[in-house]
Amino acid sequence: MEYWKLVWVFVLAFLFGGYQSEGCWEIEKAALLQLKPFFPLINDEGISWGKGNCCRWNGVECSTSTGRVTRLFLEDSSVEVYNKDIYQGWYLNISLFLPFEELKSLNLEGNNIVGFIHNQELDNLKNLKELYLNDNKIESLQSKRELRLTKLEVLDLSYNNFNSSKFSSLAVLPHLKSLNIESNNLTEWSYIQGKFKCFE
Ligand SMILES: *[C@@H]1O[C@H](CO)[C@@H](O)[C@H](O)[C@H]1NC(C)=O
Ligand SMILES: *[C@@H]1O[C@H](CO)[C@@H](O)[C@H](O)[C@H]1NC(C)=O
Ligand SMILES: *[C@@H]1O[C@H](CO)[C@@H](O)[C@H](O)[C@H]1NC(C)=O
Repeated sequence: MEYWKLVWVFVLAFLFGGYQSEGCWEIEKAALLQLKPFFPLINDEGISWGKGNCCRWNGVECSTSTGRVTRLFLEDSSVEVYNKDIYQGWYLNISLFLPFEELKSLNLEGNNIVGFIHNQELDNLKNLKELYLNDNKIESLQSKRELRLTKLEVLDLSYNNFNSSKFSSLAVLPHLKSLNIESNNLTEWSYIQGKFKCFE
């Protein structure tokens, strides 16, 4: 009798352990599939976005303890859109990232993004520490209210189209350690510092 009890404990532990290491929350899998059409080139190599454990998909990294998505590497994955031979940049909807409650690092480098929809939602990505927006065509981070990215440490805005008049509405970044604004159409550094309040 005791022996069978022990076997059951092992079977249950195995099943539960297996279930946990499977990772990938359904809500996050659904959110990744909503993002997929905007980043079609993410499927070029490795494990494509589709069936199975989403923590193993290209560009997705999950926490080993909670199984939630912590990092998204979406760089160089969008396609260029042309309309009558004229290049059309595109606007990325920030609300699409809200289901990723433990997201720490978001890399959107090199995706021809010109701006964002719902960019005030950026500060609802409460755990975001690293945001890479370099090599896009962004002119502004304009938001209805000041952005408060309370945990953000790294912000890369280099190689975009920010210019002094449209640079950004005020952003409060109390933990910022690294800001890259190289290669934009910006003239005055003091002006930029005024736009980013880095210490509270
Ligand atoms: C942005 O994404 C959210 C969440 O998926 C959606 O509800 C909303 O309709 C989207 N907005 C636009 C303008 O696409
Ligand atoms: C900013 O860019 C706009 C075009 O998007 C341009 O009309 C304006 O002159 C630029 N301003 C500065 C200060 O560079
Ligand atoms: C850069 O800024 C200057 C004025 O400061 C403006 O004339 C020019 O159009 C801007 N260039 C771009 C690519 O926005």
